[in-house]
Amino acid sequence: IKRVTTHVLQKMKVDGERISMLTCYDYSMARILDDAGIDILLVGDSASNVMAGHETTLPITLDQMIYHAASVVRAAKRCFVVVDLPFGSYQGNSKEALNSTIRIMKETGAHGVKIEGGEEIIESVKRIISAGVPVMGHLGLTPQSIYKFGTYAVRATEEAEAAKLINDAKLLQEAGCFAIVLEKIPALLAKRVAEELAIPIIGIGAGKYVDGQVLVMHDLLGINKDFKPRFLRRYLDLYGEIYNATQSYIKDVKTRDFPNDSEQY
Ligand code: KIV
Ligand code: NA
Repeated sequence: IKRVTTHVLQKMKVDGERISMLTCYDYSMARILDDAGIDILLVGDSASNVMAGHETTLPITLDQMIYHAASVVRAAKRCFVVVDLPFGSYQGNSKEALNSTIRIMKETGAHGVKIEGGEEIIESVKRIISAGVPVMGHLGLTPQSIYKFGTYAVRATEEAEAAKLINDAKLLQEAGCFAIVLEKIPALLAKRVAEELAIPIIGIGAGKYVDGQVLVMHDLLGINKDFKPRFLRRYLDLYGEIYNATQSYIKDVKTRDFPNDSEQY
């Protein structure tokens, strides 16, 4: 199988082929998603929420991200694997950002990193790219800044924030980013960014006009029962499936149905 590279992703944009991306945090799931043909797996810092149970993405550490990323990379045969730089691993200065990136690349075998922000982190983006590492940008509702925003509501609905977002996207492209994630912004603003930029724009809650879509795997599979934002399409009720399977198992154990004669040595 032909590996997905930044060049393949760029060609998809030019050809108008939509890019599919999901988050992933472990080996077994990565194997399924890669076999199914996903283009990009993101080892997102949303692992802080869905894997570790934290309220925000802020607590997850670089070491924890590396553990998740190394597990995903071991399973990925075709897809491009991107790893989030977690909160606190890059904001200090560009040297810190590069050091964190080098640890991710050396210790996980991933293919690139994602970093939240625009103008504020542009020196770090340039330094990472100059070291030969592909960088994906992330603008809009950037969850590491949730305490600045104070809300998970749609971003860039006002002119000033929309103008800054467009400017940030252009700065990221000029710095050499291979793609940008736009999170929870108006569809028409995302459309404008996707049209004005040459690199792939991948949306989550950013509408239908962008070059690709990303969702958190747990949301798509319906593992999170109560998380139902408008932008989410659920493809499974895995909470219900696992709940029912667990209850069947409990019943079989209690009633001594499991194990039966053919299930023992
Ligand atoms: O960590 C994450 O899941 C993300 C996606 C929502 C883009 O950054
Ligand atoms: Na993230």
